Amino acid sequence: MKILAIESSCDDTSVALVECSNKGFFVIAEKTASQIDLHKKFGGVIPEIAGRMHAEKIIPLVEEISKEGKPDIITVASGPGLITGLIVGVETARNLSYFLKKPLVSVNHLEGHIHSVEIDSKIKNQKSKIAYPALALIVSGGHTELILMKKPGNYKLIGATLDDAAGECFDKVAKMLKLSYPGGPKISILAQKGNGKAIDFPRPMLNQDNFNFSFSGLKTAVLYHLQKNPANNKKKLQDFCASFEQAIIDVLTEKTVRAIKKYKPKTVVMGGGVTANTKLRQTMEEKIKPLGIPLLIPELKYCMDNATMLAIAGYYKAKNKKFIDWKKIKADPTWEIG
Ligand code: KG4
Ligand code: ZN
Repeated sequence: MKILAIESSCDDTSVALVECSNKGFFVIAEKTASQIDLHKKFGGVIPEIAGRMHAEKIIPLVEEISKEGKPDIITVASGPGLITGLIVGVETARNLSYFLKKPLVSVNHLEGHIHSVEIDSKIKNQKSKIAYPALALIVSGGHTELILMKKPGNYKLIGATLDDAAGECFDKVAKMLKLSYPGGPKISILAQKGNGKAIDFPRPMLNQDNFNFSFSGLKTAVLYHLQKNPANNKKKLQDFCASFEQAIIDVLTEKTVRAIKKYKPKTVVMGGGVTANTKLRQTMEEKIKPLGIPLLIPELKYCMDNATMLAIAGYYKAKNKKFIDWKKIKADPTWEIG
């Protein structure tokens, strides 16, 4: 089946047409309009501007993607995210479903990040790779969550951040360093040449016997450190970034390893924007390899928000006939998975 998918939950308007079957997934076309340049000058995403830009871009993108083929199913991320953006995606999907007379599937944005590991842009028919039960770590600008999955669509949240998300922490610390939004990629580049052991930042909640996270204390420790020790030359800045990045990576990898030991999944999946971090990818691989469990990480371009990942999440729901009436679909900014 050909699935037309829409993503508009944050600062990317993305539309994709994906051929989905038991044999695998093939991206027929995907187009994404990024708003980063617009939000950069404000140091973060401004919801009103995001909503207006989604409204401007969505129809031209749908028109362009529609030239590549007719969809059998329409799918959209209807939450979680910014209401101003979600509404644009949901209303577009509702109208497409009605006018094209095609079934509609509503998916959670995080389900998309989980299934992003099943996209292989180089191969036409790869087999689906997630073996169940699976453990997923979602690390993005809005979420840091550990999720247990018995099968597609069956989610149990076993841990989440109590305050800031890991990506949010990267972005806020980057702001302290006057690096432009989004700061995660900039910090990770500076960190590559730094010493991760130079500064001993706190590893929040590492010693607690649960799978929750907290990053706001780390952010405050970083702020106090910077006030006393400004990163006023290249070496200090690189060491600072490497040490900060290491603190986040230690917590993410350690808690994931503990969850693997407890729940014994058949695969571990990692998704979301922070998954693009090279050091995190390497460290996670090193730590999980000795446990003999496959780790699935998305291709770099599918770590960030994109519509293709939603088509795949939508496919599993469509297979289970989990359709929603076009009259009933609603944007849900606080939709929690599991
Ligand atoms: O998944 P995503 O595109 O959007 C959300 O759903 O939030 O994630 C964006 C987040 C931003 O916070 C960004 O700074 C972070 O992912 N990010 C990174 C890296 N690339 C993107 N964080 C650390 N290292 C990176 N290389
Ligand atoms: Zn995302």
